[in-house]
Amino acid sequence: MNFFQEPFMFGGLKVPNRVILAPLAGVSDVPFRRICQELGAGLTYVEMLSAAGIHHRNKRTLDMCRRHSSEERLGVQVTGPSAESVREAVRFLDGLPFDTIDLNMGCSVRKVVSGGSGSAILSEPERIDATVGAAREATARPLSVKTRLGVSRRAISIEDTARRVARAGADLFTVHGRTRCEKYGVAADLEGIRRGIEAARAAAVRPLVTVGNGDLLDWPSVRRMREETGCDAVMISRGALGNPWIFRSVLEERTAHPTLEEWGDVVLRHLDYQEAHYGDTELAAIMMRKHLLWYIKGYPLNKELGAKVGYIKRIGEGRRYIMEYRAEWPSDLRRFEGAHKTDSRFGPNSKYDPKYEMDRRHDRGVGE
Ligand SMILES: Cc1cc2nc3c(=O)[nH]c(=O)nc-3n(C[C@H](O)[C@H](O)[C@H](O)COP(=O)(O)O)c2cc1C
Repeated sequence: MNFFQEPFMFGGLKVPNRVILAPLAGVSDVPFRRICQELGAGLTYVEMLSAAGIHHRNKRTLDMCRRHSSEERLGVQVTGPSAESVREAVRFLDGLPFDTIDLNMGCSVRKVVSGGSGSAILSEPERIDATVGAAREATARPLSVKTRLGVSRRAISIEDTARRVARAGADLFTVHGRTRCEKYGVAADLEGIRRGIEAARAAAVRPLVTVGNGDLLDWPSVRRMREETGCDAVMISRGALGNPWIFRSVLEERTAHPTLEEWGDVVLRHLDYQEAHYGDTELAAIMMRKHLLWYIKGYPLNKELGAKVGYIKRIGEGRRYIMEYRAEWPSDLRRFEGAHKTDSRFGPNSKYDPKYEMDRRHDRGVGE
């Protein structure tokens, strides 16, 4: 058994391996989480919920709390502008069937930060202790925090944040190796993550699992994260978009692109799950478009295919295009090896931000 295949425990929850799917706004819904779990993700999360949405029992927020019967382990993430708002939200979430609760202290979306949530807390460090402390009192479930290195390069605060989070009793701590001001064009700073992890371990008052996050786009980048930061587990974000096979790849410690045959099976299954969850509706199709555009990355003639799948109005249409495409090409065709590295949308110098690319009119994005 290799490192990433080893199970780990945090706060009493057993996770069967060390590869986690991040909470992803507008992406980590039931259908996508099911696919990632099937391909090996040890733990998955509902996207970030706002304490205000929970307070007002907002319908969309409550819809996002749905869990499918096949989901073996599921976490939820919340953010709020004060310790009290987070306490109330965590109390509510504690009453739902989630296995663990994460506090978002890293979101940099302007609307979220200007409302005092997400990474806004990094400008008021005392609020970190109060918020984790309040959440700790509100739930006996495994509790975690996900954060960034600081507000900006001139205000790196990850060691201080780490100590506060660890002392307040968190069970798991995820560090995204960028600051609030940094976009994806800046590479994740692994040394910063390492410093955060070490500070958290040194201050921990109970067993603490540390997780590295940022630029984990393939097996080599995951291996490097582990080697350079000493993290206990990794959390995959953009690397899973259109490539849920990344979980299998990390568990097998090799670059393992699926054959066109396997690819088609998974994409068609995702379409089925999408329809089962959202119904045979235009909205289900619109929400699926971005996934299809991500799935076809690295395959031949994907521009032509993109011009079709990017405009589907029903899930059935998507199914037809994928089946037609699969029938046209050899079944052992594999995704272009360097898809993630050479595709200008991904890679270390990319300005591509999937969050803003998503169809915001119909999708639930953070900050809307
Ligand atoms: C589409 C999208 C949605 C995201 N939503 C969330 C979220 O709800 N909660 C969160 O903590 N981070 C969210 N993030 C940030 C990622 O989890 C991650 O920290 C960041 O993308 C860095 O990892 P990467 O470089 O591997 O993508 C989101 C990122 C993307 C691209």
